[in-house]
Amino acid sequence: MRKIKVGMLGIGNVGRGTYQALEMNHDLIAEKTGLDIEITKILNRNPDKDRGIDIPKEKYTADVEEILGNPDIDIVAELIGGIEPATTYMAKALSNGKHVVTANKAALAANGPMLAALSQEHNVLLRFEAAVAGGIPILNSLSTALLSNELSEVHGILNGTTNYILTQMSMYGKSYEEVLKDAQEKGFAEADPTADVEGLDAANKLSILISLIFGVSAPPDKIPTRGITSVSNVDIEFAEEAGYKIKLLGSAEHIGDKVYGNVEPVLLHASHPLASVNNEFNAVFVEGNAADELMFYGRGAGPLPTGSAVLGDIIDIARKIEKESAYDNLSRLRYDSGSEFAGEGSSKYYVRMAVPEKSGILGKITTIFGEHDISIEVIKQEADEAIGEEQLVSLIVILFDTEKSRLMKALDAILKTDAVHSIENIMRVETR
Ligand code: HSE
Repeated sequence: MRKIKVGMLGIGNVGRGTYQALEMNHDLIAEKTGLDIEITKILNRNPDKDRGIDIPKEKYTADVEEILGNPDIDIVAELIGGIEPATTYMAKALSNGKHVVTANKAALAANGPMLAALSQEHNVLLRFEAAVAGGIPILNSLSTALLSNELSEVHGILNGTTNYILTQMSMYGKSYEEVLKDAQEKGFAEADPTADVEGLDAANKLSILISLIFGVSAPPDKIPTRGITSVSNVDIEFAEEAGYKIKLLGSAEHIGDKVYGNVEPVLLHASHPLASVNNEFNAVFVEGNAADELMFYGRGAGPLPTGSAVLGDIIDIARKIEKESAYDNLSRLRYDSGSEFAGEGSSKYYVRMAVPEKSGILGKITTIFGEHDISIEVIKQEADEAIGEEQLVSLIVILFDTEKSRLMKALDAILKTDAVHSIENIMRVETR
């Protein structure tokens, strides 16, 4: 039986899950594929740490060259995370003719074009199923079965921490702070939750999806990104009364030669399949011109689900090594479709304002929206929601399709009058 040797960089949660998944299923994989896959070396400086699994000490090395420069190793699994030194290690592995599997969304989103070019130059495969939505096999589906389709849009719940927080706020009426603390105590949320709650983690994942689906470079710092810290219980309650759920969505759509996309909390109609994705689960929704609507649902994090995706990529590469075949697009990342990433497109919008409780307010606001050619679908005043010491109440509108820039001009004009004290929240409304 052909032995395929894997060198693993890092043994954190994902590394441990990958090692465990291989231990659990090694014989099954061998039976199905005729391949004996072994993790022969692991880069880690602390072999004595108790990881709850039995790893022979001789597999550990503190010297990355024992993996990157080792002629016996066929595949390097980069599971360190973070942009550096992970990018440098992956670049070196590819340059040394090694296939690379990674779970590292930040490094791929930041350095995808360079890594894709190296994989092409050195004729080696770069695979990263675990980098987007953990255990969900979305990237491989997009790159194989769904190649038969033109996809015009993608929407994803790409972050489990924020979906857990929004779900708990919605189901139990708990505050953002209360749920975050609870999630941290249960180990669902990081001690420093910034990358998750500010939408940065989701933007990295959306950047990778955009490259795969639309062949466009959308670096995360060019993707308009907003997290969930501005979402209040008032927003959630109003949305639910009006038939919507609030979800942090990473979305992109292709119109002409432009790709629009962003990450932000949106009002998602309750009939949308993504509206029923709750707690820490992730899901990706695409619509193909042949396959029609598809939703991929599962766990976006956790050692074994993420390890399952890493191991799937390792097996796929191992089979190609055995058959000595390769693809003409060795990294699957594409940046040359001829379209360009253009930020936010137009959409329906939800706006919550704090307004003084006095006559003439509604007239002024609706007139200014009209002057900016923005049409109002729903308007509601929450008279019971007195805000602070002042006589302020919540006024909520849902607006028909408009560009974000036009909406912002109208809101600037409204803020210059005495009709509105402050804009409390703005969210896109997603229907289908
Ligand atoms: N921190 C991420 C989440 C998981 O909460 O979904 C890893 O991408």
